[in-house]
Amino acid sequence: SLTNSLLPSLADKSTGLTTAVSWIRANLATPATNVTLLLAGNEILPSPDPNLILSLLPAMRRLAQALKSEGFPSIRVSTPHYLGILAPSDGIPTNATFRAGYNTKLFPSMPQFHRETKPPFMVNPYPYFSYNPQTLNYTLFRPNARIYDPATKLNYTSMFEAQMDAIYTAMVKLGYGDVEVAIGEAGWPTQAEADQVGVGVKEAQDFNEGMLRVCSSGKGTPLMPNRTFETYLFSLFDENQKPGPVDERHFGLFNPDFTPVYDLRLLTDGKGSV
Ligand SMILES: *[C@@H]1O[C@H](CO)[C@@H](O)[C@H](O)[C@H]1NC(C)=O
Ligand SMILES: *[C@@H]1O[C@H](CO)[C@@H](O)[C@H](O)[C@H]1NC(C)=O
Ligand SMILES: *[C@@H]1O[C@H](CO)[C@@H](O)[C@H](O)[C@H]1NC(C)=O
Ligand SMILES: *[C@@H]1O[C@H](CO)[C@@H](O)[C@H](O)[C@H]1NC(C)=O
Ligand SMILES: *[C@@H]1O[C@H](CO)[C@@H](O)[C@H](O)[C@H]1NC(C)=O
Repeated sequence: SLTNSLLPSLADKSTGLTTAVSWIRANLATPATNVTLLLAGNEILPSPDPNLILSLLPAMRRLAQALKSEGFPSIRVSTPHYLGILAPSDGIPTNATFRAGYNTKLFPSMPQFHRETKPPFMVNPYPYFSYNPQTLNYTLFRPNARIYDPATKLNYTSMFEAQMDAIYTAMVKLGYGDVEVAIGEAGWPTQAEADQVGVGVKEAQDFNEGMLRVCSSGKGTPLMPNRTFETYLFSLFDENQKPGPVDERHFGLFNPDFTPVYDLRLLTDGKGSV
């Protein structure tokens, strides 16, 4: 993936394409790598820097153009969005829309880019940052009272599926329901502050297994049945050097010394090896 700070130079009208070509030659022209997806920055839209936000789509277009001219037509260009691209809502999927400002400035040109070039539209749904003790079962794919969506008469058994269908609904309302959706990153930590309810190995396992079941089993979501979603689990390793709160260092499946933190059964042969 490309760091956020590179985007303005890639977006530049006169030199952006040259910058994109140089970056591709320096980073992708090694035969040992098989890159299939290039991510332009990460969660750009909440940035306080309007120049960075306005750079995003032009930078993605230049990268896609340069990939084609450099002989990598199968590498796709996308960017992971935070869930705040949606207007605040009550958690009922059919009430979702993109946030008002984004609607006119970046949307629908962003989904239009995805429709034309075919990479998935990527979001980072983090039920971890939206749960409370009352919604924990719903968040962790455990038996719960479900959320009923009166408009579709569908029941939701997990917050993750409701968030995915909220994104889908917002896309449909703009006329882009055909654009594929993927998960840029999502996960659950195994440790947090001592008084936080809902964090531990069992919780991380239940969340990640539930998410992978929705994304890879072919079950899909209530509004996107029978589909699979490309998913990037956050994360492979605990990050013992990362600053900030305890949970930020404990999203990993493995410790920094390669020993497993827990066994994500869906990914393994049951003997602990991935
Ligand atoms: C690169 O990855 C794609 C998608 O996973 C696969 O189809 C292709 O065969 C791979 N190419 C090489 C050279 O490994
Ligand atoms: C969550 O599920 C457990 C086990 O079924 C149940 O005992 C508990 O009351 C539920 N919590 C809430 C807040 O509904
Ligand atoms: C959500 O949608 C329902 C109908 O499906 C409507 O009654 C409700 O007012 C909506 N809520 C919001 C916050 O828009
Ligand atoms: C959704 O839940 C309601 C209330 O529990 C139930 O009456 C209804 O049959 C369910 N709908 C579907 C499609 O499962
Ligand atoms: C999804 O798959 C089920 C079971 O194979 C099938 O009955 C259903 O019609 C499919 N739904 C869609 C929308 O393709």
